[in-house]
Amino acid sequence: MSNSRRLPKEAYTDQGWLDLEFQNLFSDAWFIIGHKDDFTEAGSYRTLTAGLAPLAVIRDNEGGYSAYHNICRHRGAVLLDGESGNAGGSLVCPYHRWTYGLDGALRGVPNRTECFPGLDRSTLGLKPAALGIFRNLVFVNQLGDSDFDQWISPLRGREWPHDLSSGDVREATPLVYDLKCNWKVFVENAIDGYHLAYLHENTLGGPTPDQNLWEKAGQHMIWYANEDGIRHRLPAKIRENGRTGMIASASDPGYGGVYYLFPATLIVATPYGFSISTLHPISPSRTRLTVRHWVGPWQNTDERQNIPGFDETTGVISSDSWTEHPLDTGDFQTEDIWICEKVQRGLQSPAYEHGPLSKGRGAEDPIGWFHELLHHQTQLIG
Ligand code: FES
Ligand SMILES: [Fe+2]
Repeated sequence: MSNSRRLPKEAYTDQGWLDLEFQNLFSDAWFIIGHKDDFTEAGSYRTLTAGLAPLAVIRDNEGGYSAYHNICRHRGAVLLDGESGNAGGSLVCPYHRWTYGLDGALRGVPNRTECFPGLDRSTLGLKPAALGIFRNLVFVNQLGDSDFDQWISPLRGREWPHDLSSGDVREATPLVYDLKCNWKVFVENAIDGYHLAYLHENTLGGPTPDQNLWEKAGQHMIWYANEDGIRHRLPAKIRENGRTGMIASASDPGYGGVYYLFPATLIVATPYGFSISTLHPISPSRTRLTVRHWVGPWQNTDERQNIPGFDETTGVISSDSWTEHPLDTGDFQTEDIWICEKVQRGLQSPAYEHGPLSKGRGAEDPIGWFHELLHHQTQLIG
């Protein structure tokens, strides 16, 4: 792609650009809000902020799911708190106690006759969000009539085989990262095949661009290590490390090691684990990354103490709390965060201008695809 189709540097540094992304991109973006097993009984819910929109999915009395905007129709207070919980039989706003059914219908308004004469409750139910289910993962979109099937269908037939409901895996304690970079810097690093053998020399150790493959799947992208025509889910160096145990449902070959789901979700699927990473832009130079992950039953489910930058008091992982050099940690995610934060600081320099992208599906072509997608989705680039 020509340099003129690349995102300008303001895309990584300006609040105005992020505001346009909230308006034009995240306003119709699918996020994974949970797994079917999170919704065990009527009233079980999970929440997520999609761009600027607090959303919730809740299991109703009939065993179905309702997805809606998690904000009260009176004065807008956020209704359900926390990432998950059980609402009981109804949703009660703590401000003036407007009460909604699990289906989102407005059921009760205190002092309705004298305070709201003539109020038509049927027009003030919670606003619907869109919901989709794929591989037992529950997806949500703030645009109530967004077409999930159109967005997800390119992954059908190429998806990961992991069965998160089976005894094969256990969920580990979720991770929260505070990243000092634009959300797109993190995406671009995740889909950049050129850096694997260099930045990660001591951890992933490759593959080099010629042994590395990103494929398009609709708006999404799938990564494989491609060695002598054989596709693997992990770089050779990691495979050779002789890992113990393997997730039974994930032992068959043929699926990708990394799935980038446009725009803000990354799934890592290997015979040893499964993770869902979600990017939440906070400001042009700050992003919250949440990671849910599942590991084999032989692995520890809380490894946070071993993650560089984990702060026990806040529960957040941040470069502010690093105690050793990132390249000495042996942790490739730490190496990635280190470089993303360095790139963000470089992008903010008045001297910054784009350098050329390396060519190839195992190099930086995916960054070009990403910019094209953003162009089509947001019409932000000329
Ligand atoms: S803001 Fe929810 S009841 Fe008033
Ligand atoms: Fe990396």
